[in-house]
This record gives sequence, structure tokens and C-alpha cells, in this order.
Amino acid sequence: MSEQQVTLRPFEKEDIKELQRWTNDPVSIAMAGRIPKTLEQIEQEVEKKRRKGDFLMAIENKENRLIGWVFLRDIEPEHGRACIGILLAPEARGQGYGKPAMEQMIEWGFQQLRLNKIYLTTRGVNERAIALYKKIGFVVEGQLRKHAFINGEYFDTYMMGLLESEWRQRVSNEHRQ
Ligand SMILES: CC(C)(COP(=O)(O)OP(=O)(O)OC[C@H]1O[C@@H](n2cnc3c(N)ncnc32)[C@H](O)[C@@H]1OP(=O)(O)O)[C@@H](O)C(=O)NCCC(=O)NCCS
Repeated sequence: MSEQQVTLRPFEKEDIKELQRWTNDPVSIAMAGRIPKTLEQIEQEVEKKRRKGDFLMAIENKENRLIGWVFLRDIEPEHGRACIGILLAPEARGQGYGKPAMEQMIEWGFQQLRLNKIYLTTRGVNERAIALYKKIGFVVEGQLRKHAFINGEYFDTYMMGLLESEWRQRVSNEHRQ
């Protein structure tokens, strides 16, 4: 698959209606642990994230269509770390948009926010997300057994992390190829 082109721009209030649609999709409910939410609940969550200083970016494809969001949350400058999250619109999944969107956000995190580490948690059942994160360079740092309850079953949760030094190494290897 050739690399998709995406652009990140600040996530605006007008984008929240779309976020509600993506959030309430059954796959994202199972994979990212969310229950169906009202527009008002989502608005409050976005507002809370902004107040905490989370870095929220909308993802657009090359036709300038909004196709998802990616964010850094729990930004802790004293430890040089932040947690990354991504959610694509159901119709935009499985087409290679996740990788460039995360890579741009990661570059921001390391380059502009001077982070040393970006981490995430994901459910073991989310094979697509895990494949994507490994491809980017995240490694599994921990496994929480039977941590998430999805449709009547418990699944493990994985903690994954990426260090700035590993990221730089990967980028320079890719340039050399
Ligand atoms: C998870 C998500 C961000 C992935 O982005 P995406 O653009 O859809 O990912 P891709 O289709 O490029 O797939 C990534 C890789 O996983 C592979 N993959 C897809 N389905 C897979 C599966 N069931 N098992 C193993 N690998 C799989 C793909 O082949 C691809 O690898 P490749 O590029 O080498 O072919 C996106 O699907 C999404 O937003 N999902 C819903 C919300 C979610 O799960 N968020 C993450 C919560 S932790």
C-alpha cells in the first residue's frame, strides 16, 4: 500500500459532531472501551481535555475531508512523556491513514514538545492497532491480564512505549534506505 497523505490541524468545536459518530461506532466501542455517548457528553470530554492541556489534532485526507483525530494526553513535561491516542472515522479505517497521522503527531511530540517518551495502552483484541503501533516502532512494555471486558469476555491490555532515541534511529534508518 502506498503511503497515504494526511494533514493535521487543530481540532475545532465544529468537529465534535463527527467525533460523536466515530465514538459511537460499535468497533470503536469495543476497541477503545467507550460506551455510546450523547453530543453533550462528548463536548464536555473535549472541553475537559482542552483544560488539561491535551494536544488535540484533527486528521484530514488529501481531499481535505475530516477522517479522524489524534491526540497527546497526560502531557507531563517533568517526565518528558505523554500518552497518544487515535480514532479514525469508520469509513477511513483499513486504508493506511493511521500510520502517517500518528507519525506526524509523534514528530510533534518529540520535536516541539521535547518529549522523551510517548506511550499508549491498547487491548489485546485490537490486532490492527497493535500491528500499526509495532510498525511505527512501539514496543510492548507490559501486559495487564484480563483487564478489559468486551462483549462478555475479558481481554488483556498492553502497555506500549516509544522512546525519542528509538524514533530518531528509525527515521535516520529510513532516510538511509
Ligand atoms: C486502529 C486504527 C488507528 C488503525 O489505523 P488504520 O489506518 O485503520 O490501520 P491500517 O489499516 O493501516 O492497519 C495497520 C496495519 O495493521 C494490519 N492489520 C489490519 N487488520 C489486522 C488484523 N486483524 N490483524 C493483524 N494485523 C492487521 C494492516 O495490514 C496494517 O499493516 P500493513 O500496513 O503492514 O498492511 C484505526 O483502524 C481506528 O481508528 N480504529 C478504531 C479505533 C481504535 O481502535 N483506536 C485505537 C485504540 S488503542
